[in-house]
Amino acid sequence: MAQGQVTVFGGSGFLGRRIAGRLAAGGAAVRVAVRNPDAAPAPEGGAGRIVPVRADVRDEDSVTRAVEGSGAVVNAVGLYVERGEATFDAVHVLGARHVARQSARAGIARLVHVSGIGAEPNSESSYVRARAAGEAAVREAFPDATILRPSVLFGPEDAFFNTLAALARVAPALPLFGGGMTRLQPVYVDDVAEAAARVLARPSARGQTYELGGPRVYTYKALMRLLLEEIGRKRILVPAPYGLGEVLAVLAGILPNPPLTRDQIILMKTDNVVGANVPALADLGIEPTAVETVLPTYMARFRPPGRP
Ligand SMILES: NC(=O)c1ccc[n+]([C@@H]2O[C@H](COP(=O)([O-])OP(=O)(O)OC[C@H]3O[C@@H](n4cnc5c(N)ncnc54)[C@H](OP(=O)(O)O)[C@@H]3O)[C@@H](O)[C@H]2O)c1
Repeated sequence: MAQGQVTVFGGSGFLGRRIAGRLAAGGAAVRVAVRNPDAAPAPEGGAGRIVPVRADVRDEDSVTRAVEGSGAVVNAVGLYVERGEATFDAVHVLGARHVARQSARAGIARLVHVSGIGAEPNSESSYVRARAAGEAAVREAFPDATILRPSVLFGPEDAFFNTLAALARVAPALPLFGGGMTRLQPVYVDDVAEAAARVLARPSARGQTYELGGPRVYTYKALMRLLLEEIGRKRILVPAPYGLGEVLAVLAGILPNPPLTRDQIILMKTDNVVGANVPALADLGIEPTAVETVLPTYMARFRPPGRP
């Protein structure tokens, strides 16, 4: 996207901050729509071109105001743990519908909706079912929307490697739920932000669904080994049944920010890799960045003291 006004919902999040920064650096004026503009961390890059506005995707009127006057809209809202009225359905289905419907009503030219690989309507996970229903709601209200489905995101402040590394720092053994043989294709957060910017600039991306993965597919166990090597810690990897993971997730649920949820355990049962013959990063001219290149840049704090 060259010049123009873009509204980014979820622009205070891990991915949304990068999308906002990338769009601003490319010359766009970015409106970051967040629930609490005063507390929103400054998105990276594009200083002066990014303005926070108040919006909650569950409140359709606030969505109407946030998209007014924009040429494009990106929905990068995420919710991993339900709290009170902030349910998966309220945020990922109703909220996604509000953004798509109000974007259509306001005559917005382009809408990018961020979902995730494996958004299946029949999943055991209420999170995954909501993602699938959200995609359907977006397609219904705004058929030309571009849907981005990333695999697990990595990069500084990611939830995946940082959570596992924090656990590895204190625990002598780490569980491999289901034996750790599920396959993942981690994708660099900046590559997904670049993809969002490029699809906005490409008329041919209208109505498409892209699956975004990194250059390599790993088993969960291989990723754990890579992480342990990176942080210089030896830990026993113990195969554990998914059922144990679900019990641990229930116990973790009493914490304010649970490190593990039942939906994550369910997600671990299914490979999370880019499908065959679907539009992907390569179709956008993006060469994906390897985990091995970026992980060393943000794992130093998890190494034993005195280890470089
Ligand atoms: N992280 C991953 O590994 C991964 C993998 C695949 C797909 N994805 C998808 O990528 C997208 C972004 O994920 P992320 O990891 O960047 O999430 P995140 O860091 O948790 O950020 C979530 C964002 O959503 C906003 N938000 C939550 N509820 C909202 C509401 N009711 N109204 C308006 N904004 C709301 C938050 O804003 P506040 O400041 O208001 O809280 C925040 O900006 C999500 O769709 C996620 O499912 C992520």
